[in-house]
Amino acid sequence: MQSTLERQRKALWSVRPKHVAALAQSTQALCLDQMQEITYRDLTSLSDFATVVDLEQAIWGPGYTEPVPVPILAVTVKRGGILIGAFDGLRMIGFVYSLAGLKGGRPMQWSHMAGVVDQFRNAGIGYRLKLLQRERALQMGLDLIEWTYDPLQAMNAHLNFTKLGVVVEEYEENVYGASQSPLHRGNPTDRFVAEWRIGAPHVVRRVGAPDIPLRTHEIADVPRANRALPSGEWHECSALDLGIDDRRLIVEIPMGFTEMLANAPDLAFAWRMDTRRIFATYFARGFRAVDFLLDRNGRKGAYLLVRHLKL
Ligand SMILES: CC(C)(COP(=O)(O)OP(=O)(O)OC[C@H]1O[C@@H](n2cnc3c(N)ncnc32)[C@H](O)[C@@H]1OP(=O)(O)O)[C@@H](O)C(=O)NCCC(=O)NCCS
Repeated sequence: MQSTLERQRKALWSVRPKHVAALAQSTQALCLDQMQEITYRDLTSLSDFATVVDLEQAIWGPGYTEPVPVPILAVTVKRGGILIGAFDGLRMIGFVYSLAGLKGGRPMQWSHMAGVVDQFRNAGIGYRLKLLQRERALQMGLDLIEWTYDPLQAMNAHLNFTKLGVVVEEYEENVYGASQSPLHRGNPTDRFVAEWRIGAPHVVRRVGAPDIPLRTHEIADVPRANRALPSGEWHECSALDLGIDDRRLIVEIPMGFTEMLANAPDLAFAWRMDTRRIFATYFARGFRAVDFLLDRNGRKGAYLLVRHLKL
């Protein structure tokens, strides 16, 4: 007999993309009348896994040399991993993938990848995939999903903090070694470890109301550990302050870090080193990052760090 979980794993969700207006405005996006209902389901067959590998190449591009191969997808899904695909008709256009893990002896999920093909971006599909990943993990009785991301990627910070409600207290230096791209001049791959406490009240509130972000006036008086100051077409990291003793502080980052890496690598390197110093210093003093405010007009963003007592 099929267990409830097996039945749930086979369930098929279907929703219309949330940001239909945004999709219609996007020049890269499909026209509305071309867009079908997007459906979501667990991926369990070898042909699904092969399609995921193709998608990995399509989404991360030809320079991406370490796609997760079919056998690893197959065994990890068999033993508690979560792999969910998004479909436009029969065509898979995005997926989210996490592996079963342990943290402090407790079972959790380590989210390795979330990706949506270019022409379907900014339509709420990536967000929906993360919410479905959360639902699946809750059904398994888990309370934590973690993943890493580059703290200088403002759009990822926006998704992770503002829409999902992650918290960060771990900063890892040069996780994957210096960037291999000659364009990036060896920028180290520093990462935040995003902790998504999927059952916590602040996450429940955040996923229920993702469009109520931190407001500018709420952080207007909070001391700044640095400033992102406009300089030509970029922002420079200036006015570093590593001696703030308040309970809260702000760390500013620029938008467009990927473009900066390719077109102003020395500046990107300076941003990496300055923000590494700031985060390493304040995390060591018991601060953690709890929120993020994206200032699209100002082309920058601000992390809110709050000091907490470690027991
Ligand atoms: C990250 C990614 C999965 C988001 O998918 P998506 O379907 O475009 O995201 P959504 O439409 O659900 O948007 C969710 C929010 O995240 C923001 N966002 C996050 N990453 C973004 C990105 N790379 N580009 C643009 N917006 C992004 C959006 O602005 C949106 O917030 P808003 O509605 O307040 O504007 C997609 O951009 C992608 O596949 N990127 C390449 C692979 C990658 O970097 N994956 C993440 C690390 S594994």
